[in-house]
Amino acid sequence: MRVLVLVVALAVAGVAQARGNVEAGKQKAAQVCAACHGPEGNKPSDPTQPILAGQYYDYLVRAITDYKNGRRNNPIMKGFAAQLSKQDIEDLAAWFSSQKSNLHEQRKD
Ligand code: HEC
Repeated sequence: MRVLVLVVALAVAGVAQARGNVEAGKQKAAQVCAACHGPEGNKPSDPTQPILAGQYYDYLVRAITDYKNGRRNNPIMKGFAAQLSKQDIEDLAAWFSSQKSNLHEQRKD
């Protein structure tokens, strides 16, 4: 049983590894994306720039990849996505998906 738990834990860790590097994503986000989406993807500098914090990892990878290959057509995001490698996209998705979204905290009362 203990061996099984270890195997499962290692498998989960392996998946997490394959899903992009949070620290690397943080660095890349600070260089480019933060100006519009905010450093954690939580404070867009304009309402047309979506909140990325807390979004699903898979959704972010898909959205950025779609801007890159033109399946999603937006002149602003196309330019930024075009410069990203697959690794960059996974790192950025890992960073933004691991951040806490303000959207979940709007209703307090
Ligand atoms: C100059 C401002 C600007 C910069 C810099 C920028 N974005 Fe965006 N981003 C936008 C705008 C505007 C949209 C909305 C586009 C649309 O309507 O499709 C957007 C949309 C997105 C979306 C889609 C979100 C959703 O909910 O579907 C993702 C993901 C995203 N950006 C990631 C990034 C990443 C990662 C970077 C850095 C590499 C980045 N953006 C840099 C302006 C920017």
